[in-house]
Amino acid sequence: MEQKNIILTGDRPTGRLHLGHYVGSLKRRVELQNSGKYDEINILIADDQALTDNADNPGKIRENIINVVLDYLSVGIDPEKSTICVQSALPALHALTFYYMNLVTTARLARNPTVKTEMQMRGFADEGLPVGFFSYPISQAADITAFDANVVPVGEDQLPMLEQAREIVEKFNRIYGETLVMPKAMIPENETQRRLPGVDGKAKMSKSLGNCIYLSDPSSVLKKQINGKMYTDPLHLQISDPGHTEGNVVFTYLDALCTDAHFAEYLPEYANLEEMKAHYRRGGLGDGTCKKFLFNVLEETLSPIRAERARWEKDIGSVYDILSAGTARAVERTNETLARVRCAMKIDYFANRSIIGEWEELLKKARQ
Ligand code: TRP
Repeated sequence: MEQKNIILTGDRPTGRLHLGHYVGSLKRRVELQNSGKYDEINILIADDQALTDNADNPGKIRENIINVVLDYLSVGIDPEKSTICVQSALPALHALTFYYMNLVTTARLARNPTVKTEMQMRGFADEGLPVGFFSYPISQAADITAFDANVVPVGEDQLPMLEQAREIVEKFNRIYGETLVMPKAMIPENETQRRLPGVDGKAKMSKSLGNCIYLSDPSSVLKKQINGKMYTDPLHLQISDPGHTEGNVVFTYLDALCTDAHFAEYLPEYANLEEMKAHYRRGGLGDGTCKKFLFNVLEETLSPIRAERARWEKDIGSVYDILSAGTARAVERTNETLARVRCAMKIDYFANRSIIGEWEELLKKARQ
């Protein structure tokens, strides 16, 4: 089998996508899509995975499928170049998950650090742990392998999932023969892009903390999040005081997003971020100026995205058609992999009638 360059990545549809998603993954997906280096790009809306910790609230998932697709289209995911599909509509993924479950122990699942953290956050440690949630890394391995993906662009928190997927591929191929493609994670190079904190300085943007900047937020909300909520340096009281740039969210966001061209356009006193930071550290540069610059940088990034979203929002019928066509393509694609897997596992009983001869032979021998 000749290895093509195939990307598979995805998101749980549990909310609108925010700036953390943008700098950590969406921006890069668009670059990869437009690089021309990939034979296939597949983007999975992981609604089944979202249900593993939202079983009592399927309405939330249903609602957010459209939000996530709109966010994809508005950042520049092009349905001509990338296949956008819905996980629950791909039956091959369920079958693959079921077979892979036999290749993973509960002890191995229990060691997954991302699952451990998520269990804590959701109170599953006390309430009891749903089997579906506990085993979602296995279903994620099915997502990845079903598309024969060799490249999986994800955030850093997804590395344990990739490790699990790689172990499953290794074990499957060892037992049943070379069948599955070994995937590899691709994580952002820029440290701050890997994990953008919330505007309040907390480790992660999260809906419940109200510390997100959503791609669909209007500029008035963006302004409020920056001016009203953004954590800077609590020791920087007077403009003349020396300030800290580490842990200062304004500078963290600038690290992740601003370019020298932004300085030329909005803050020509400095050639680049290093010069601006040096001034802040020396003292004499006020938070107001820094926040205004960040607002301009973010506006430049987000306003075209908002405009695209507004355009697509008027045409939800077309968005539905894109999703439905992408999903139909993915059904075919993943069914082919499932057929290959069943053949390798010798459970492809109904692929053709060749088993009739085998069974007849077997019975003949038994009679002798
Ligand atoms: N677990 C991923 C997240 O929470 C979403 C996801 C599901 C995914 N299936 C995937 C990511 C396959 C990459 C590949 O963000």
